[in-house]
Amino acid sequence: MAASFNRAAERIEALVRANQSLLANASHELRSPLARLKMAVSMFDGADAAQRVRLQREIDTDIAELDALVEEVLLASRLDARSLDVAREPVDLGALAAEEASRVDATLVDGAPTLVVAGDERLLRRALRNLLENARRYGGGVIDVDLVRAATGAELRVCDRGPGVPEAMRERIFEPFFRLPGHAEHAGGVGLGLSLVRQIAHAHGGTARCAARAGGGSCFVLALPTAN
Ligand SMILES: Nc1ncnc2c1ncn2[C@@H]1O[C@H](COP(=O)(O)OP(=O)(O)O)[C@@H](O)[C@H]1O
Ligand SMILES: [Mg+2]
Repeated sequence: MAASFNRAAERIEALVRANQSLLANASHELRSPLARLKMAVSMFDGADAAQRVRLQREIDTDIAELDALVEEVLLASRLDARSLDVAREPVDLGALAAEEASRVDATLVDGAPTLVVAGDERLLRRALRNLLENARRYGGGVIDVDLVRAATGAELRVCDRGPGVPEAMRERIFEPFFRLPGHAEHAGGVGLGLSLVRQIAHAHGGTARCAARAGGGSCFVLALPTAN
């Protein structure tokens, strides 16, 4: 009983630590869109019509960024806290991949096999969308999605022909808020997408990793144990 109490205490401590750093990072990230928003709003009164159009666009962008950040932080902290009790419903990965690929005009390689995982469809869709969004944003936009049966279950790969990720950074990009140099100013993301992808993979007993692609680019691989 003492041992299991210690394990529980350690787990809680780790959770608190993880949430503290998430909170600190998130607060820091909130500052720049908030500062821009403050600036744009304060300039609005004295602006002429053309400037107002520009300021309005800027304000909309900043609000969208704040929205995305808050949503990702909420999801990340929820997953941290309840990573053990995600839904366990049959999810057809082939159908999910086909749907999400067609949404962004990605090519689904081969006829997707029927691979079913026991999991949370909303979260798995979210993970795939994050990878597709990254491929579009950082990988040049020509995206191949591939679903294959592997020894350990299903492997869902999202591959692009972009600049790729230097080998030394392929683990770090999964850390919350870590972004490659030069990518921090890309609109839209806040650096939580891949850490969410990995959390979602782990919550399903799977893994997420980044690999170099033969011929250039990257492949992000979501490996999930299958029900069949
Ligand atoms: N397909 C990709 N090609 C190159 N770099 C990538 C790719 N996907 C992600 N990255 C790098 O990993 C970083 C972290 O990704 P992510 O956690 O999704 O954050 P965000 O999309 O908000 O920047 C990105 O900022 C980018 O530097
Ligand atoms: Mg992202």
